[in-house]
Amino acid sequence: MNKKTIRDIAVDGRRVLVRVDFNVPLKNGAVADDTRIRAALPTLEYLLKHGAALIVCSHLGRPKGRVVPELRMDPVAERLAALLGRPVRKLDDCVGPEVEQAAAALRPGGIILLENTRFHPEEKKNDPAFARQLASLADLFVNDAFGTAHRAHASTEGVAHYLPAVAGLLMEKELEFLGKAVENPEHPYVAVLGGAKISDKIGVIESLLRRCDRLLIGGGMANTFFRAMGFEMGDSLVEEEAVPTAERLLKEKGGRLVLPVDVVIADRFAADAQTRVVAPNEVPPGWRVLDIGPKTLPTFESALSGARMVVWNGPLGVFELEPFAHGTNEMARILADMDAITIIGGGDSAAAVRQAGLVDKMTHVSTGGGASLELLEGKTLPGVAALDDK
Ligand code: 3PG
Repeated sequence: MNKKTIRDIAVDGRRVLVRVDFNVPLKNGAVADDTRIRAALPTLEYLLKHGAALIVCSHLGRPKGRVVPELRMDPVAERLAALLGRPVRKLDDCVGPEVEQAAAALRPGGIILLENTRFHPEEKKNDPAFARQLASLADLFVNDAFGTAHRAHASTEGVAHYLPAVAGLLMEKELEFLGKAVENPEHPYVAVLGGAKISDKIGVIESLLRRCDRLLIGGGMANTFFRAMGFEMGDSLVEEEAVPTAERLLKEKGGRLVLPVDVVIADRFAADAQTRVVAPNEVPPGWRVLDIGPKTLPTFESALSGARMVVWNGPLGVFELEPFAHGTNEMARILADMDAITIIGGGDSAAAVRQAGLVDKMTHVSTGGGASLELLEGKTLPGVAALDDK
C-alpha cells in the first residue's frame, strides 16, 4: 500500500481524530452486532498503547442531516467501553465549543466518542468549514472506516486535507486483501457473485471478468442471464433492461461464466411457500426462483476446485428466509473447507459467513459492503485517496 499508516507516524502525546465505521445494526436501543466495533479495536488499542488521546467519530444510519434520537451514538459508546475495558466519554455533538473544550482537556489514554457525524448536513456535503472544525479537535487524523471509504464526506475525505492523515490497521488490512484481488490475484482465481440485480454490480462483473478465470453467478441476477438465454422465468425477479447486457456478457465471456444448473422455486415470496426444484428453463408461470438448487452446489464446487484465490460477494438466494438460505450457507461451507485465499466481500455474504460461524475459516471477511464492491470494481475510494502517501 502506498499510503501511510499509524505505524509510520509518532502518536505519543498526540490528540488523534479517528474515523471509524460504527454504522452498526441496533435493536431495542442496543448494538445488535458489534463486528465493526471489534474490527476497529486493533487500531484504537495500538494508538492508546502508544500514548495517544482518542477522539473517535462515525456516522450511524442515515439521519439526513438532522438529529434523530434513535441514531445517537450512546449504545455504541457503551459497547466500545466494554470492549476496550476503559471509560469512553460520549459527547452530544461532533463539533462546537463543548466538543472543543472536551478535546482540549483530553489526556493520553483518554477516549471521547463524538455524536453521529450525519446529524449535520455538512457531513455528506463534504463542507470544508465543517471538515476544518473536525480537524481543529486533533493533531492527527486516522481513517479506519473502510466501510465508509467510498463516501467523500467531511469526516472521511474533507478532514484529511487539514491534518496529517494516515490509515488505521483495519483500513490497511482491507486494502491489502481486496486490493490483492484487484491488482495481483493468485490464479486460478474464481469469483462468486450473487445478489438481486446485475445493474447494481455491472461494474464489478466486468472488472471480475477481466481478472478471474471463472465467475460463478447465483442469486436474483442469474435470472436475468437465464432470460437472456431465452428462458421463461415465471414471476422471478428479472431485470428486463439488463437483458442486453447479460446477452453480451454470455456472448463475449460465456466460457468463463458458470450459472446454476437447477433452482429452488416457490409459489410465493414467503418462508411457508410451496417449493420445488426444477431446471432453470422449467420455471412455471406464477412461480419464482428463490435459491440455487442442490445439483448446482457440486457444479459450483467443481468450478471452485483447484482455485488458489476466491472472492465471494452477494447471497446466492433469499437467505433471510430460512428455506432459501441453503445455497448461501453451503457456499460458506464450501469456501471454509478450501485450501485457497478466500476473501468475502462485506454485506450479506459476510453476514452469512458470520451466521454459519465460519469467519475464522476465511482468509478475510470484509467489514465494507459498498466500499468492498467499489474496490473490486477497480475504483479509487475517496477516503483512501485523501490519505498521505508513503
Ligand atoms: C455501510 O454500512 O455500508 C457504510 O457504513 C456506509 O453507509 P451508507 O451507505 O449509509 O453511506
